[in-house]
Amino acid sequence: MNILFIGDVVGSPGRDMVKEYLPRLKEKYRPQITIINGENAAGGKGITEKIYRQFLEQGAQAVTLGNHAWDNREIFEFIDQAKYLVRPANFPKNTPGKGIIFLKINSFEVAVINLQGRTFMNPIDCPFQKADELVALARTRTPFIFVDFHAEVTSEKQAMGWYLDGRVSAVVGTHTHVQTADNRILPGGTAYLTDVGMTGPYDGILGVEREAVLKRFLTSLPVRFEVTTGGRNQLSAVHMVLDQKTGLAKKIEPILINDDHPWYS
Ligand SMILES: [Fe+2]
Repeated sequence: MNILFIGDVVGSPGRDMVKEYLPRLKEKYRPQITIINGENAAGGKGITEKIYRQFLEQGAQAVTLGNHAWDNREIFEFIDQAKYLVRPANFPKNTPGKGIIFLKINSFEVAVINLQGRTFMNPIDCPFQKADELVALARTRTPFIFVDFHAEVTSEKQAMGWYLDGRVSAVVGTHTHVQTADNRILPGGTAYLTDVGMTGPYDGILGVEREAVLKRFLTSLPVRFEVTTGGRNQLSAVHMVLDQKTGLAKKIEPILINDDHPWYS
């Protein structure tokens, strides 16, 4: 089993990169499953139905979210019908949407789970306890279990990797927008990467206009954050190969495409 995951797509620059490079990535890596984190895909805040559908049309099988899931109000109109949209599973009870989905690929199923951290983020339900519950459920159906852990701090993400080691195929982090270089297969067989990184503007600050971010740091005044447009862009992703019988990882390789790491096929 071959899985491609594209990290936090930010606004139209991120969507442009998906459009340009997803066909090339598919040709090179031949993933059976492509998953996109789309929580920043609509102008940096949330996702619209049109963008969600566009990702599916471009070849994604699932779209994960995070703390910006509700930032675009349109989400409430379509999330309950969106079969392939996954929001953090540890959001409070009775939150719209779902935190786990099962994708059917030939005779196999792949579980896609989205969880969110709590350190320096909203104090939602415990992601570790929710992971226990969902992983137990998923394992009754399939050994292929992918976890997007949307969290701020590296320690919480490493903790989740070790906590789920041997029980899931992969734990990859999202949210910080900066790709880490710690890809590894943990001793129990789980593929791990602290953060996949961001797909969007290359010369902004985490994808946001530099001037506004600098003003916030220099003055502490309230500023409006806008996605940087019209400049250079990047794509961040990760490719994983899983054992066909056990679902455990055989390979995990981060992918970074920008002017300093140009695409080569
Ligand atoms: Fe986020």
